[in-house]
Amino acid sequence: MKKIVFATNNAHKLEEVRAIVGDRFEIIPLAQTGITEEIPETADTLDGNALQKARYVFERTGLDCFADDTGLEVAALGGAPGVHSARYATAGHDHAANRALLLKNLDGVADRSARFRTVIALIQDGEERFCEGEVRGTIATEERGEGGFGYDSLFIPEGYSETFAEMPAELKNSMSHRGRAVEKLAKML
Ligand code: IMP
Repeated sequence: MKKIVFATNNAHKLEEVRAIVGDRFEIIPLAQTGITEEIPETADTLDGNALQKARYVFERTGLDCFADDTGLEVAALGGAPGVHSARYATAGHDHAANRALLLKNLDGVADRSARFRTVIALIQDGEERFCEGEVRGTIATEERGEGGFGYDSLFIPEGYSETFAEMPAELKNSMSHRGRAVEKLAKML
């Protein structure tokens, strides 16, 4: 089977990708390539970060590979937190602080429309390509639900009244930005 590196060590993401393309490709996580350091993500766009990560892996392994980057883009905030979603409130990955800051910045704001967007950069046979997936929705006025992670307890996808954190994981995954981006990746491979 053909091998391809996914520039992540996140077990949940790996499982999601393997479920969609695992019958055609052996998906190799970052840890198995010998890359142990954190890959820099210093670009100012999702595309830029995804490509930066994919190139980092390709330059060191020579293997076909792909990398993803996701952001929550809120219309009333000009697309913020966007590429800075993980580090919106602090330099660390403090999800609770990020949600609190988002609620504060949207206090009294009527237009609460937002979208999650995932970009995947693929390097295959030396060629660089992109695909992306998005899910549109709105930001709740308070946190609801215990499931998921990140901004899930604040994000209500279009057509639903529950937040992502109130849904069964399978329902969220069936419509998520990442799931949609991976479906497109599967077609490109
Ligand atoms: P990453 O590029 O997948 O690491 O995502 C960057 C940041 O976006 C995460 O740290 C989360 O804050 C947020 N995020 C990404 N995907 C999701 C999701 O499915 N639900 C909630 N937040 C997410």
